[in-house]
Amino acid sequence: MALTVSVMLFSLALVLITAVVAKITSGRIITDPVCALPAPPEVKGIALLRLLPTLFTEGPEATMHYLHNKLGSAFTVSFLWKKTTFLVGQEASAIFFQGLESEVTQGNLFEFTVPMFGTEVGFGVDYATRREHTRFIVESLKPSQLRSYVDPMLQEVENYFAKWEEEGVVDLKYEFKELLMLISGRCLVGKEVREKMFGQFCTLYHQIEEGLNFASFMFPYIPIPVNHRRDRARIKLRGILSEVVRSRKSLNHVKEDVLQRFIDATYKDGRGTTVEEVSALIITLIFAGKHSSAMTSTWTAACLLDHANSLDAALEEQRKIIGKYKDKIDYNILSEMGVLHSCIKEAARMHPAPPALVRQVKKHVTVRTKEGNEYGISRGHTLVHLVMLNGLLPHIYKDPEVYDPDRFRPIREEDKAAGKFSYTSFGAGRHACGGEAYAYMQIKIIFSHLLRNFELKLVSSFPKPDWTQFLPEPKGEVMVSYKRRRLPSD
Ligand code: HEM
Repeated sequence: MALTVSVMLFSLALVLITAVVAKITSGRIITDPVCALPAPPEVKGIALLRLLPTLFTEGPEATMHYLHNKLGSAFTVSFLWKKTTFLVGQEASAIFFQGLESEVTQGNLFEFTVPMFGTEVGFGVDYATRREHTRFIVESLKPSQLRSYVDPMLQEVENYFAKWEEEGVVDLKYEFKELLMLISGRCLVGKEVREKMFGQFCTLYHQIEEGLNFASFMFPYIPIPVNHRRDRARIKLRGILSEVVRSRKSLNHVKEDVLQRFIDATYKDGRGTTVEEVSALIITLIFAGKHSSAMTSTWTAACLLDHANSLDAALEEQRKIIGKYKDKIDYNILSEMGVLHSCIKEAARMHPAPPALVRQVKKHVTVRTKEGNEYGISRGHTLVHLVMLNGLLPHIYKDPEVYDPDRFRPIREEDKAAGKFSYTSFGAGRHACGGEAYAYMQIKIIFSHLLRNFELKLVSSFPKPDWTQFLPEPKGEVMVSYKRRRLPSD
């Protein structure tokens, strides 16, 4: 009986993986007649089937490690007529990050996000408009604007942890998801929604987020309940946001939040943004930043609480800063928290929020590898940059399996010493994360508050990544015990 169930589960998983890979790599391969270069080493047929037990028992990271060690920094996995080329390391990934839009593109790979965010942004619009929207985002999150988000972030963090008891045990993964939604509500969406209708806003946003599952990824428009809920929620959420935008415009109310920056943004031709575009941009931005920041915060906490030396160093830095500035926190003081910054960066190196990034090849490209090989990749291939392996390369990172935030501190700076594309947890090149500085700011505010006000201990075992989630996260609950205390100054 047990065997039958295992066989059924195995078959089901096989069908699912097959379908997802086929979807990701959809698009015809057109062999380029002028390409004289060899193709990368390929895994297909029986060899591919032989990998399945490793994939199921040890997970995608171990499987990719195995292939990388065996085949080098560029290799292709072929399934039916679909080809996906995986890239690891600076040399092989250069084309991924630096290639022109006419060569490598996010293309229609992200089509499933259109019914989540709307047709006015992202992959619902042409590339030129999308670039303009990226400019709006980058401008709304540049340092001069970030300064104004510190106080609202601080308020949200203080109010949130004020609700904790004198001591207790919490699932930190859950707590961070909640808190980061509150911060997004305040700094991205603004006071009106945050103060008056945040519960309703969160419920609707959650229904949109649920639209990101394997079924909807495969068939974004099939009439299943989760897609219906997603569509209804998007329309209602847009209604709420549109109301706020109209009200601000008619009453000439100007606020210090990202919503306002989008309302004030103008296209190169002088045209202003529409109410629909502003609403869709805000939903997109919450999506881009909330989950990744919550997961990076959770991994940072798990790593810090599992490594007494790093925790002591982070506490010592806070003591020094308290000695210098007392309880005051502002943008410049946050910039002085270099140790905490490295602790977060190191957690993101070992546990990157997106473990892999994806593009499609539009025109034949050449991949050059560290091993000195040159490969031709034809139009229609899918390219995958493996962030999860890129941060573990031993020629860049000393003892890459060890959590060692000092590797990013002055003198060592292992990523800078290695050069471009050595650290890709926040992407790189043309699509580098537009919210990196904002993300660090909010995570540092959370951790400086936690370190100063609580003694924390990891109660559950160190989490493993949960590969069954569409967006991987630490598996299960991440239970932490806390006890209030005041961290003294040095
Ligand atoms: C720790 C938290 C975060 C991590 C690890 C992260 C990681 C990434 C990565 C890897 C990419 C590149 C995607 C690709 O190349 O396909 C990216 C893109 C992006 N991120 Fe983040 N991100 C984080 C937080 C944020 C936040 C807080 C925001 C905004 C509030 C944000 C906004 C964006 C945007 C707009 C892009 C798209 C840029 C483009 O396509 O030009 N991210 N992020």
